[in-house]
Amino acid sequence: MNLFNVYPINPINIVKASGSSVWDAEGNEYLDLYGGHAVISIGHTHPYYVESLTNQLGKIGFYSNSVEIPIQQRLAEQLGEVSGKEDYTLFLCNSGAEANENALKLASFYNGRKKIVAFSKSFHGRTSLAVAATDNPNIVAPVNQTDNVVFLPFNDEDALSNAFANYGEEICAVIIEGIQGVGGIREASIPFLKLIRSLCDQYGSVFIADSVQCGYGRTGDFYSHDYAGVDADIYSMAKGMGNGFPIGGIAIAPKFKASFGLLGTTFGGNHLACAAALAVLEVIKQHNLLQNAAQVGSYLIGELRKFDKVMEVRGRGLMIGIDLPEELSAVKKDLLSKNRIFTGEAKPNVIRILPALNITKEIADRFLTALDERLKA
Ligand SMILES: Cc1ncc(COP(=O)(O)O)c(C=O)c1O
Repeated sequence: MNLFNVYPINPINIVKASGSSVWDAEGNEYLDLYGGHAVISIGHTHPYYVESLTNQLGKIGFYSNSVEIPIQQRLAEQLGEVSGKEDYTLFLCNSGAEANENALKLASFYNGRKKIVAFSKSFHGRTSLAVAATDNPNIVAPVNQTDNVVFLPFNDEDALSNAFANYGEEICAVIIEGIQGVGGIREASIPFLKLIRSLCDQYGSVFIADSVQCGYGRTGDFYSHDYAGVDADIYSMAKGMGNGFPIGGIAIAPKFKASFGLLGTTFGGNHLACAAALAVLEVIKQHNLLQNAAQVGSYLIGELRKFDKVMEVRGRGLMIGIDLPEELSAVKKDLLSKNRIFTGEAKPNVIRILPALNITKEIADRFLTALDERLKA
């Protein structure tokens, strides 16, 4: 049997990893400033993380949500504390798409409505409603197409106000990334996030903050939407949550009441996944990684803005987009093949930097030197 060939892959076999470095089978070291799509939050094979997972696996790796799993409660308490949203409740699942799917379902159960407002260039995942709320027709199968999702221009306050004025009573939820990742590192503006909050309050709609990529401390705030000084009703999270172990979740405001069977999953919240997520939060807290993300991130952004050939630098903390002109479209590929540095991309010509939250200024400097070399080449 062969693999179903859906990924355009780099011909590199990574066999070992530590912190922000990975090694291929020939022993070559690469700098990882991408973390496999923003997943590696506390560095590869962090010793405390490895110890926590190993200990947990030696006791019990999995049992379903039909028995008590006390580590779930410990995770919820830590998450409440580190995120500053202690009165929210936590539902655990396995991925970002699932988190958004559950957030949207919960919103619809809550107000009984069907219409979802999403924005241009959004990405919310590949399950049926999450992909319907994703602005990319190429990945929406005919069966996922629905009139229930309306796309509005990102950061357009007038368009949003008009939509609510016209059919606000029908709007179930507004879903928005604090910083669009796949869409090219584009920040939701503070007035726009505040407007979403006030319109959702006025019309009884649910504000869903997709924090799958931009959350979990990446921008220096725990949820990137916190920057606007307003609370969402539901935060979806995944990627950085398990530092590579699959886990996702939604943090749910107190006004939503749980009932047996409303949401559910077989694997979500299993012992091993919770041990991974708990270890990540403990490391984030103990090493002040939110502060590190903010500091190293603003250093990087400041230095990147000094390059003449860079058209624009967008983002916050360690979620950075570097917009390059068309003639420099080979830079991302060359950073990997010539400087052995993993970065990400977004269309049409944006380099995405999504490193571990504990990268040092020295690592940032290694990247800046390599980029300088590439831009001069
Ligand atoms: C903002 C955002 N939401 C949701 C998802 C989907 O997450 P997953 O691939 O874990 O289903 C992604 C993945 O890239 C994402 O960037």
